[in-house]
Amino acid sequence: MTNNITNTVQKKVVFVDGGIHARELVSPAAALYVIETLIANTKLTETIEWQIMPMLNPDGYEYALNKDPLWRKNRSKSPSSTCYGVDLNRNFGFQWGGLGASSSPCSYDYKGASAFSEPESRALRDAMLPLKGKVKAYITFHSFGQTILYPWGYSTLVKHPLTATMDTAAKAMAAQIKKTTLAVYSVGNSAVVYYPVAGASDDWAAYAMDIAHSYTIELRDKGVYGFKLPASQILPTVRDAWEAVKTLATLV
Ligand code: ARG
Ligand code: ZN
Repeated sequence: MTNNITNTVQKKVVFVDGGIHARELVSPAAALYVIETLIANTKLTETIEWQIMPMLNPDGYEYALNKDPLWRKNRSKSPSSTCYGVDLNRNFGFQWGGLGASSSPCSYDYKGASAFSEPESRALRDAMLPLKGKVKAYITFHSFGQTILYPWGYSTLVKHPLTATMDTAAKAMAAQIKKTTLAVYSVGNSAVVYYPVAGASDDWAAYAMDIAHSYTIELRDKGVYGFKLPASQILPTVRDAWEAVKTLATLV
């Protein structure tokens, strides 16, 4: 049994994850760099409790590293098919099965048999749900494209009520990145800037967790190397990620 006696006020929580898509190898590196920087620089931990899940899809990551560099999904076996893998960013329980999510187990964007059918998406859900009301910001790292995206991502027709707030914060993140690393990130609604995608973690976090700031950050590059980013770009890319996270944490 633990007895926790404290006089500090409940801190705001900022939730960060990486690695939901296997081939986006710089994404878990970005989340790890956030951890490393926070540990070295204690100031931002005084007012904020950080929850960081750097490796959401370990089986997929291992498979991308050792077998197929363009593998994106997890490695679960579909009982109804010979194909492997669910796109974890189509498996979340908000608008599950809508646009941009395939019903075919062989597709790269297979949504899974049901919402939260996968242990990896359930792990994120179950880590977050007990923190409902405390989480003020959520950032999920992907690659590539150099864009900062906000909900709703499931439709181009439905506007999130906090669109203006998120747009302002996303622009502040992009400006801070530009100032420090010179990289140019564009900003916008994910369904408009990319394409409508239902069942993604950012929409679920905004909806089910009622988080006012929910972002998918597509890290470097803009398509020259794509998923196969050269090692020399890892450090500059994870610095982009840190500048974005730091900027958002001061705004929430
Ligand atoms: N590249 C990401 C994907 O395809 C973008 C997801 C953005 N979020 C959204 N809800 N549309 O999964
Ligand atoms: Zn991705």
